[in-house]
Amino acid sequence: MWNIAIFASGNGSNAENFFNYFKKNNEIKISMVFCDNPQAYVIKRAQNHSIKCVEITRKQLKDQDFMIKQLEQNNINFIVLAGFLSKIPDFLVEKFEKKIVNIHPSLLPKYGGKGMYGHHVHQSVINNNEKFSGITIHFVNNVYDDGEIIFQAKCPVLENDTADSLAERVHKLEYQYFTTEIEKLLNSKA
Ligand code: GAR
Repeated sequence: MWNIAIFASGNGSNAENFFNYFKKNNEIKISMVFCDNPQAYVIKRAQNHSIKCVEITRKQLKDQDFMIKQLEQNNINFIVLAGFLSKIPDFLVEKFEKKIVNIHPSLLPKYGGKGMYGHHVHQSVINNNEKFSGITIHFVNNVYDDGEIIFQAKCPVLENDTADSLAERVHKLEYQYFTTEIEKLLNSKA
């Protein structure tokens, strides 16, 4: 049985897809959400789905005793980062080796690293006249956006794209692949 914690900082549209997709799954359960931004809409989405949401500060995220206790109390054995902007502390990377995955809205290793999130990514892709962008699902290690790649999918960057229009195309790929790729991964580990 997989008990997943989703870590999110913002809108939470990917998190909501996970709530819906795994609702009736007996082997894979979305057990809780950790959110490091009190203004994030993902908090409301979790509430609407009756999924426990723990709001954390950056300081609590780095507090080993606090985080491990939270995760153990809820039997969490897998973590999905869905638009989570804080860095995952080393103790979590070690404890959850190959059991933390992230989605990034570009074709890594391009346009990753600290500060590269959301529109910053899409604007850089456009500024550099890239012909393609896409998504990367990868394991999380100690370096931002650097862990082993699990899956990538690409889409074109159009001539008149703005960061918004490109974000929309990339989001569609995220909605198409994120839940199903994680399901495949977990079934292969079972
Ligand atoms: C997603 O596009 C995700 O790839 C990106 O944040 C967005 C969150 O959207 N993540 C990063 O940029 C991480 N570096 P959501 O809150 O609606 O799921």
